[in-house]
Amino acid sequence: MTETMETTETASWKRTHTCGELTVGNDGQAVTLCGWVANRRDHGGIFFIDLRDRYGITQVTVDPGFEGTSPELLTTAGNLKAEDVVSVTGTVKNRDAAQINPNRDTGAIEVFARKIEVLAGADTPPFEILDKSDTSVELRMKYRYLDMRRAPVREALELRSRFILALRNSLVRQEFIEVETPILTKATPEGARDYLVPSRVHPDSFYALPQSPQIFKQLCMVAGLDRYFQIARCFRDEDLRADRQPEFTQLDLEMSFVEEDDVVAVMEQAVAAAFKECLNVEVSLPFPRIDYREAMERYGLDKPDLRFGIELIDVAEQAKDSGFKVFTGALEAGGRVKALCVPGAAEWSRKKIDGLADVAQEYGGKGLAWAKVGDGELTGSVAKFFPGEAATALCEQCGAEAGDLLLFAADREAVVHRVLGELRNHVARELGLVDPNVFRFAWVMHFPLFEWSDERQRFEPSHHPFTAPLDWDVDFNEDTGSIQSRAYDMVLNGWELGSGSVRIHRRDVQERLFAYLGLGEEEVQEKFGFLLEAFRYGAPPHAGFAVGLDRLVTLALGKESIRDVIAFPKTTSATCLLTGAPSAVQPEQLAELRIRRT
Ligand code: AMO
Ligand code: AMP
Repeated sequence: MTETMETTETASWKRTHTCGELTVGNDGQAVTLCGWVANRRDHGGIFFIDLRDRYGITQVTVDPGFEGTSPELLTTAGNLKAEDVVSVTGTVKNRDAAQINPNRDTGAIEVFARKIEVLAGADTPPFEILDKSDTSVELRMKYRYLDMRRAPVREALELRSRFILALRNSLVRQEFIEVETPILTKATPEGARDYLVPSRVHPDSFYALPQSPQIFKQLCMVAGLDRYFQIARCFRDEDLRADRQPEFTQLDLEMSFVEEDDVVAVMEQAVAAAFKECLNVEVSLPFPRIDYREAMERYGLDKPDLRFGIELIDVAEQAKDSGFKVFTGALEAGGRVKALCVPGAAEWSRKKIDGLADVAQEYGGKGLAWAKVGDGELTGSVAKFFPGEAATALCEQCGAEAGDLLLFAADREAVVHRVLGELRNHVARELGLVDPNVFRFAWVMHFPLFEWSDERQRFEPSHHPFTAPLDWDVDFNEDTGSIQSRAYDMVLNGWELGSGSVRIHRRDVQERLFAYLGLGEEEVQEKFGFLLEAFRYGAPPHAGFAVGLDRLVTLALGKESIRDVIAFPKTTSATCLLTGAPSAVQPEQLAELRIRRT
């Protein structure tokens, strides 16, 4: 035994309480607190120190008039700087009624210090640690560990942790087994670019980081695990936005001998449990279900925000004889003319309406026709094409009343839907109809099996190539774009929260689908051979789902970007400002991997 091991006495700086727990019940007690100096004020020789830790802030008072105050203590208190780490030993005292701070859990007491030990000094931080901060995102990300000392960031991480626990508990209650699947693996079929990891042992060979655990979870079903779930990290090299990060987390699950309803029920239970346990919010079950086609017709987007109405209205009947070239031309070309009726927006200025046209253009619209509804007549860019009765018929079709604003898009159906769908969200925000405290979940069912890829000039699976068609015997070559699938999304307040589908467990259908996609036998073997081989040994009918956990927590907290609920997020150009990743590596490392610089 060495000598040092014999001294096991508790260090004098160890805390008896956290900075968030002392109340009037502790009056008179001797306590020790540890934390960071959030703030130190000098009131003519009396020092007030706000001591912060994860649990809260407690006011420490250093008062020359207090019997326990020594000259050294006054010197130490006088030298304290923001963010120094200290241990404070002292006596709890109730504050006078006039001094009580109702905004703080510990606001009814203060700790009169007898001793302050500086455990670690701090340099002046690059920004002040305040709950409300106007520091640039870049600086906050570079010093994320300081940013995380701010209550809103810490609270988001705490809520995230509670959400994960509640979801996990719900699934375990529902007989799911948590299984970890590999991170160093083969390319998965989610359609984004892969992050590749070169193998040192096998030169010129690469692992791919998983875009999702899709293939492994299906293998778990072949394995008979029946109900799998995982809090899974996924990696996708894609263009980033507020709701996308290069690595993100899914609550991923898969179930055997089930269909859509079973997966939907499990997910609803889990999400409702998490909202109840973490936010005390009652989510009403079941979530409404909307067919994909209906969602597109009524809301223009496949992730409708259901907190407000303002649905898209087909005005082809009224537009076809209007003589307005933009409308008639679109219809003649097989396109659509649809409208939005924005209640009470006739008073919007020309500038504001021009702003809406900019939004339309941003989403591919060629312009934005509009009309203000007055008493029995229209004014605005298309008014002259709808005189007298035509105006009345148009208003009736749109349910428009005096004071409303009508917005029109005329184009290919996809453009009309995208433009009006985005405008719908935009005007709802303008009208103040978007309440972050309201959670309107829904399922969008029967997504198309394929979608047209302009880039590749062919149809590709909308979800992934293991998603079952609604009709097992459908001919993929016939009217390909309108074939329905058994894929479904969970949407919340205008965001796609998660996706899933019933899978193809029949080899004949899977083979026909690969053949339609033009994947040769060799390519199929190379990419998915191991999965197809597994299916030869008895694949149960199965279905599954994955929720974007970052998105779920972001919406639950009413935040704007998933970055706000990720401890160490990356920028929109996929860099980590804190560590500097990605970065160059040593030439020796490259040589070992047989990678040459070009
Ligand atoms: P999908 O690709 O639709 O489905 O992903 C499921 C959910 O994951 C979230 N998500 C993301 N979140 C943050 N950043 C990203 N870059 C990102 N990409 C996706 C979204 C999305 O709805 N294996 C299938 C699921 C299944 O079929 O079971 C899959 O991954 O919230
Ligand atoms: P123009 O005939 O091009 O001067 O357009 C007349 C009005 O129709 C303007 O307000 C344009 O913004 C609008 N407009 C042009 N193209 C479209 C379109 N594809 N859909 C809806 N409105 C359009």
